[in-house]
Amino acid sequence: MGTHYDSVPLSAIVKIRDLMYQVKDPFRLDQGDVSFDAPETFKAAVRKALDQNHTHYLPTTGVPRLRQLLAEKMQQTNGIPIGSPDEVQVTNGGTHAIYAAMHALIEPGDEVIIPDPEWPPTMAIVIAAGGVPVQVPLRERLGWRWDIDEIERAITPKTRALYINSPNNPTGGILTRDDLERLAAIARERNLWVFSDEAYEDMVFEGEHISIASLPGMYERTIPLYTFSKSFAVTGVRMGYYAIRDEVLRARAMKVVLYTTSNVSSLTQYGAIGALEGSQACIEEFRVELEKRRDLFYAGIADAAPGILSGEPPAGAFYAFLKINGDWVRDRKLPGESVSWAMAEHLIKGARIGCVPGVDFGPASEGYLRFCTCRSREELNGALASMKALLK
Ligand SMILES: Cc1ncc(COP(=O)(O)O)c(C=O)c1O
Repeated sequence: MGTHYDSVPLSAIVKIRDLMYQVKDPFRLDQGDVSFDAPETFKAAVRKALDQNHTHYLPTTGVPRLRQLLAEKMQQTNGIPIGSPDEVQVTNGGTHAIYAAMHALIEPGDEVIIPDPEWPPTMAIVIAAGGVPVQVPLRERLGWRWDIDEIERAITPKTRALYINSPNNPTGGILTRDDLERLAAIARERNLWVFSDEAYEDMVFEGEHISIASLPGMYERTIPLYTFSKSFAVTGVRMGYYAIRDEVLRARAMKVVLYTTSNVSSLTQYGAIGALEGSQACIEEFRVELEKRRDLFYAGIADAAPGILSGEPPAGAFYAFLKINGDWVRDRKLPGESVSWAMAEHLIKGARIGCVPGVDFGPASEGYLRFCTCRSREELNGALASMKALLK
């Protein structure tokens, strides 16, 4: 197992972070970390938990009250037929939820179908779990959705699961009800599991968010995965969760959580109880503001990088995944191992703007750049002005 981890990739985000450390007064559009403060409901519950000395070991699966609230949330908001809070597991953020679920299900050599582009840790975790990620392109002309026929063609006897991430990081593409029904039919017919990563469930600007686990007969073969990171602006406190109907799989995943963390921080869990019991207004406030930031950024790009960076505002999430004019990069002989790396380094070194090269999200995504539009308006405006000055 030790050497196996040599084959688990490190995302380019690490190289980008190192580059960003060398930049004075950077615009951090490389990280998907919302600029909002956590809601007072969360913070007050953490303070109270500390005052009441909730600082001891907890059940690995999570505080019972929290699991009950999460089961109700998945039933009512996501329409998933959770049988009981016993099916819910609390994790150390969404990354840990994916890690535990994938390690519980995947056998060596199992193939997992994943979008291209996709958030890089997903591919890394499939490999860490002994599986083989098989990326199928999202099509820009389809609003960054899969062409479901291509999914059917990618399935082999080794395919164990589909990983769905809607809204998608980095494109913001949202799968429609029709897409999900077709994928559900394929999963049932080909006896596949589904990992449904719904980290951006609350960031939907056009269309609707539907959990595939809510479709008839799908929860039995789906592991819906969630995080508080984006919805409650608490990326650093690490609060994630999932639900599993199958008892054997659930017991295995629980062991992964047990031996990687024993229990999720008590303060995080009590904070999460506060966030769920209190007003949910912040979720909609964040969504409305994120939509404005999306529009601000796309209007700014049309002004700062006309003919150089292009793309349509996404239906969800909070990223801009923009196509680079490759001829423009080649004409200027910008150094870099690929067009997307050359452009990323040009913007980082020349304009102090953090961004991530498309190729990091999958081979079909070379030639694009990802910017996070969840930063403050001030930071977005600063980045756009700096970009304009560099590219004019
Ligand atoms: C698609 C996707 N899933 C899961 C996560 C996990 O987030 P966290 O580990 O902060 O909960 C992220 C974070 O950026 C993400 O983009």
